[in-house]
Amino acid sequence: MNKIIAANWKMNKSSKEAEDFLRRIEISDKNTVIIFPSFTALPAVSSIIGRHHSGAQNVFYEEKGAYTGEISPVMVKEFADYALVGHSERRALWETDEIIGKKVRAAQNAGLKVLLCVGEAGGQDRNRTLETQLRKGLMGANEKNIVIAYEPVWAIGTGLTAKAAEIAEAVSFIKALHKCSVIYGGSVTASNAKEMLSVCDGLLVGGASLDAEGFRKIIEL
Ligand code: PGA
Repeated sequence: MNKIIAANWKMNKSSKEAEDFLRRIEISDKNTVIIFPSFTALPAVSSIIGRHHSGAQNVFYEEKGAYTGEISPVMVKEFADYALVGHSERRALWETDEIIGKKVRAAQNAGLKVLLCVGEAGGQDRNRTLETQLRKGLMGANEKNIVIAYEPVWAIGTGLTAKAAEIAEAVSFIKALHKCSVIYGGSVTASNAKEMLSVCDGLLVGGASLDAEGFRKIIEL
């Protein structure tokens, strides 16, 4: 189908478990698959699947320096081509739109492609939220190597998905503002993936990407 299928493994899978998983799925050229493992599993994942198909779940916004525990985009670039920025689970911790904007620029300066996550929480106005997150997140960025993931916060890990018509509306709102591919994330499974894929450029899959059998079905659509 030639869509983007991204797997966000969150804080799951050791490098050994990641290797076992990748040996069980065969990745064809049908779609562009990108795996976002933990930092510690990234070298193993990229050596098996290739740097074009792997990325970090987070990066810091400085190239180097006295930032204990942080990982710079330059370090990620040694292993992978992508960085996931602005996931709602990180926004919930401490990341503001301004910090996310700094991370996007730093990742691009290091030569990484960026998968930027945006989406409204329950009760928030969708378009107003998307407009602010995109304006601040993409300030000073080059739209060329950006993929945007529309992930309504209320749909992440809850088993609730946005309806295909709602996704289509959000996708066209985002595309009117930015010339980027737009993918959907939020409780995607092997059973609903096809419907979601019909209205956007790909999927960001969390929970359902942890199971090799289920994920194989999604990447083969
Ligand atoms: P989920 O997570 O598929 O488990 O809802 C998606 C995400 O957090 O990107």
